[in-house]
Amino acid sequence: MADDKTFIRRFSVIIVGLVIFTVLIIMLATTFQSPPDPADNPSQLTLAEERIAPVAGVRTSEDDPGGLVASTGAPAEAESGSSAPFDGSLDGKLIYDNVCSACHAAGVAGAPVPGGTMNDRAGQGLDALVANAINGINVMPPRGGNSNLTDEQVQAAVEYMLNP
Ligand code: HEC
Repeated sequence: MADDKTFIRRFSVIIVGLVIFTVLIIMLATTFQSPPDPADNPSQLTLAEERIAPVAGVRTSEDDPGGLVASTGAPAEAESGSSAPFDGSLDGKLIYDNVCSACHAAGVAGAPVPGGTMNDRAGQGLDALVANAINGINVMPPRGGNSNLTDEQVQAAVEYMLNP
């Protein structure tokens, strides 16, 4: 019995000592270790900034082309879907290369090829050709399938096709 009591007392003392030692170690560790600073990890910081970056910016001043501020939510004109493609450019070659050449370069489905079979169609006059290109003709879809092209842009492309 006496031996048991001695053992339990010593054992408790050792346990308490170990607990105090553990607490001390934890306190020491926390004083030496500062909380993680994102500046220590540049890739983490960049990733976070990328994730929270606004999807678009608005230019507030012409003097400061780089001065973008976060969008206020009003969609830019280009995103509304109603504006003319190619910034409204009347560059016939540009429009032809991007829209019309898909069929007309190789004569897909009998599409007249500029500098070739296109010349056979010239007889009906520019206005008739442009009207057919705008409204579509047989297999050819209206405005070559790009409904955002303006009449003027279609005409520019037709003029280029007649004189490539
Ligand atoms: C999906 C294929 C396709 C695309 C894209 C396309 N065309 Fe055509 N186009 C045709 C076909 C096919 C014809 C021949 C239609 C017929 O006469 O049967 C044609 C005919 C024409 C004609 C002759 C019409 C006539 O009255 O003889 C013009 C002009 C023309 N296209 C202009 C354009 C322009 C401009 C674009 C681009 C904005 C364009 N096309 C894009 C397929 C296409």
